[in-house]
Amino acid sequence: MTRHFLRDDDLTQSEQTAILDLAEQLKKDRYATKPLAGPQTVAVIFDKSSTRTRVSFAVGVADLGGSPLIISTASSQLGGKETPSDTARVLERMVSMIVWRTYGQAGLEEMAAGTTVPVINALSDDFHPCQLLADLLTIREHRGELKGLTVTFLGDGRSNMGQSYLLACAVAGMHVRVASPADYTPDDAVVADADAVASETGGSVTLYTDPVEAVAGVDVVVTDTWVSMGKEDEKAARIATFGAYQVNAELMALAKPDALFLHCLPADRGFEVSADVIDGPQSVIWDEAENRQHAQKALMVWLLEQD
Ligand code: CP
Ligand code: NVA
Repeated sequence: MTRHFLRDDDLTQSEQTAILDLAEQLKKDRYATKPLAGPQTVAVIFDKSSTRTRVSFAVGVADLGGSPLIISTASSQLGGKETPSDTARVLERMVSMIVWRTYGQAGLEEMAAGTTVPVINALSDDFHPCQLLADLLTIREHRGELKGLTVTFLGDGRSNMGQSYLLACAVAGMHVRVASPADYTPDDAVVADADAVASETGGSVTLYTDPVEAVAGVDVVVTDTWVSMGKEDEKAARIATFGAYQVNAELMALAKPDALFLHCLPADRGFEVSADVIDGPQSVIWDEAENRQHAQKALMVWLLEQD
């Protein structure tokens, strides 16, 4: 049965740990394994802009001995004349894996249901699971163990990052808090799924509207843009609503004194985070960005082994 990675809870706790362990090894020895030697091709498709995801997959596939084929949807038939499932049926005849950054989660599900090669979600409106593997790897590098740590995500709880934080941290057995304005809370079904996973792994899930309460004594503070791709028309309203959720020195001071700060980037300094925090000593954003490459390589190796 082909395994796909469309959302964070597609992995069990032990599978997530195995991938993070492998990522740690591959970070030490970048060219240790070449499962894509041939080279086999991996299609990496973008409906939305990207710097980190594009580069980390291109470099990662090449490190594994493969050939990345970067496709911009605007110059392909996908999304215009052709469905995700027909596209998948064609691609699987030629490539070993499909990586796709898109809008709706439903398109990814259709793509995965229609193909025999693994499909990886490189960001949808609902989830950003590859980013969370990198974030968990980063937190683990700086804190040793994930289980039992408390993480607060502040900002748009209904966004891909807010929802992936809920699911991925629940899988890892962490205590995850999401602090957002009442109109931007995570989807009820995602919260219920995260809750169910957390009850198995020893983690917990708590939603807050008060940012001060949400960061009290936590190990990790995370935020993301208030204006995700596709939400540009709502920019003014969002900036007006999210002001109290800015991660600044005052808010950071309420977390543990050595709390880590993460942001998936790109960042809007002065909006969701102040420059002194994102560029300050508690910030691990550059490790986090680098870890996209290592985490995704481990994910690809693992998915190929499941076939
Ligand atoms: N964090 C992230 O996914 O960055 P890009 O949009 O540059 O890929
Ligand atoms: N939430 C952001 C993440 C960017 C990597 C967005 O979707 O634009």
